[in-house]
Amino acid sequence: MKSDHHLMAPTAASAPVIAVKAEETFFNVVLMRINWSALPLGCSNLWLEAISEETSMATSRILVIWYSRTGTTRQVGKSLTAALHCDGEEILEDISRGGILGYLRSLLGSLRQKPSRIAATSKDPLTYDLIVIGTPVWTWSVSSPVRAYLITNKAKLPEVAFFCTLGGAGGDRAFAQMQELVGRRPVGYLAITADKVASGAYNAEVAKFAEALQQGLARQGESVAASAA
Ligand SMILES: Cc1cc2nc3c(=O)[nH]c(=O)nc-3n(C[C@H](O)[C@H](O)[C@H](O)COP(=O)(O)O)c2cc1C
Repeated sequence: MKSDHHLMAPTAASAPVIAVKAEETFFNVVLMRINWSALPLGCSNLWLEAISEETSMATSRILVIWYSRTGTTRQVGKSLTAALHCDGEEILEDISRGGILGYLRSLLGSLRQKPSRIAATSKDPLTYDLIVIGTPVWTWSVSSPVRAYLITNKAKLPEVAFFCTLGGAGGDRAFAQMQELVGRRPVGYLAITADKVASGAYNAEVAKFAEALQQGLARQGESVAASAA
């Protein structure tokens, strides 16, 4: 993937913060022993190249949709929805992913690259110009509920952009999987570490990403209008 302000050098500050709940301690210790920060963390946007000064949201419809197990991706999804002044929706499941069983289910499902059973979503992708899809990274992969959403809605998706939250590594691989599942290149993607979300230090990145997406849509609208003239 082409990138511009992308590959942030991982620092000690971006080391993984995985919520330590008593019942998850063993697995978190295993995950935290993995050197997440040895791998690059992607943060880029194709539309950020040569963006115009003017932004027009007049005719663009955007949906931000995400899955979140422990609230981190939800927080970014809601911030993006607010920054884009657009619709937002969370992907839900019937099953619980709380506790050790839920944690194990998530771990195994992502290792097996299996979609999970998700509840029907209420927003119709066909009525949007851009869908921004967010996932937590699970074992360097897209989460099972987002995998299911992408498989279910593949044929209906307009332009797509991706975001993820993660301990520190695997975002690029998760984005590559998402791209393969939808069969198209995202117009932009953003990876934010869980510790950044927890500290609140992610808002500037979200704002920049949202601005780039808006301007990209505006430019796209202009070129469609120009070719129709
Ligand atoms: C089963 C599982 C696997 C995970 N695997 C990774 C991983 O490969 N790389 C990483 O950086 N973080 C990993 N994490 C950490 C989550 O990506 C991170 O905490 C994320 O922000 C959680 O988002 P959520 O609160 O929206 O569920 C994993 C977490 C779980 C539960």
